[in-house]
Amino acid sequence: MGDDVKRFVQGELTLELTRSGGELRLAWQGKSAERDPSRFLVPILEQAMEIASNGKLPLVLAQRDRIRPEFKTYVANVAYDLAVYKRFFDEQDAIIADEADDVACAAREVLLRTEGRQFHQFIDRALEELERIVGGFTQEEHERHGFYLRRQLWPYLMMSEFLRRTNLKPRGYAGDAELMTMLYENAYLGTSLFEQLVHKHPCDTRAAEAVRHRRFLVPRVLREVLARFGDLGPHGFRFLSLAAGPARELHEIVRDRADAERFDCTLLDQDPFALDLARDTVRRLEADRSFRLEVRYVQDSVRTMLRTRDLPRALGRHHFVYSMGLFDYLTPPVARAVLLKAYDLVEPGGTLLVGNYHVRTPTRFYMAYWADWSLYYRTEDSFRQLATGLSAAAVSIEFDETRCQMFLRVEKAA
Ligand SMILES: C[S@@+](CC[C@H](N)C(=O)[O-])C[C@H]1O[C@@H](n2cnc3c(N)ncnc32)[C@H](O)[C@@H]1O
Repeated sequence: MGDDVKRFVQGELTLELTRSGGELRLAWQGKSAERDPSRFLVPILEQAMEIASNGKLPLVLAQRDRIRPEFKTYVANVAYDLAVYKRFFDEQDAIIADEADDVACAAREVLLRTEGRQFHQFIDRALEELERIVGGFTQEEHERHGFYLRRQLWPYLMMSEFLRRTNLKPRGYAGDAELMTMLYENAYLGTSLFEQLVHKHPCDTRAAEAVRHRRFLVPRVLREVLARFGDLGPHGFRFLSLAAGPARELHEIVRDRADAERFDCTLLDQDPFALDLARDTVRRLEADRSFRLEVRYVQDSVRTMLRTRDLPRALGRHHFVYSMGLFDYLTPPVARAVLLKAYDLVEPGGTLLVGNYHVRTPTRFYMAYWADWSLYYRTEDSFRQLATGLSAAAVSIEFDETRCQMFLRVEKAA
């Protein structure tokens, strides 16, 4: 098949767009008399983008033929029911709209608690059915069917603040610090009843509850470590959070002025936006409780840690190092390497604590299919194995109350 060439000429400039096999090439000759790119270059680049995406269209459309009939029926039924529920809640919004603010507010609250709860139960049932259908799928089948479901349910997913963010990934990955903030706040976000309900449902799952639990588990373990070290003087007790996100647990860690004077805290995250949210957390805490915290913010990826020879020189050694919501994204070899590096940052007698979701997390298909948020769920054994080779005094695993999240605790000999 010959090349498909499009030529654009303006003054002394010629741009040539060549489509050859699966490739698009853009070449130009001469010089541009027209300096304003929006008037010449941009429309051509837009055409190039369109041709490139149209090239993919047949492939995307062909996906439809590889979807299991039972799954197609499932998605069609869910889409139908979502449409019915949306219409119902939109009608309620319209009825309430004419009421005085306090009446409308009370009516909305009742609707959220009654019909809203039934709607949430409908989603729960839809998720149980999803698990029954896709439970035995291969990874490749999960990806294909997940893509199909999201294409069909897209308008509804976009109405949920939470699912919109997991799907659109404005920070380049799902599970960013803003999403964590949504989970911590667990509010009815959105302007309409339907929006509020589709946002709230994923924030109410057991896996979401597990995120909120970390705020209490981390401070509890920190206190146990602190008790072992006794008084280390002002800012003598150092702790480090790897992939700190909004660092909401600081509210529970730093209880009073004495704590603020005792602690030295380092928060590391790859995302400057996450560190901004962490700064907000610290500012709010300092303002509420009238003390100053010793905090160091480090914008870095744990992947850079792997390349840093003398990591303790760069980040210091800490009595307590913890990492929540990070290992779930790391492949076993990377997770093992990061754990080794993190362990190197622990003071003798100190503790390393790492969280990871368990394979039996009930919402894993909800997360993967509706939220496009895939994690490395681990078994106790595969989690514990990450610590093989560490010269630890003790390695243990505990669960939180939700039984979704495990914590690997590695103690260093004094
Ligand atoms: C799921 S959030 C958890 C945040 C926080 N630990 C919590 O429990 O609320 C994941 C955080 O990890 C950060 N992160 C992801 N990959 C990272 C990496 N390779 N290095 C450092 N931070 C990372 C993200 O920017 C995000 O803030």
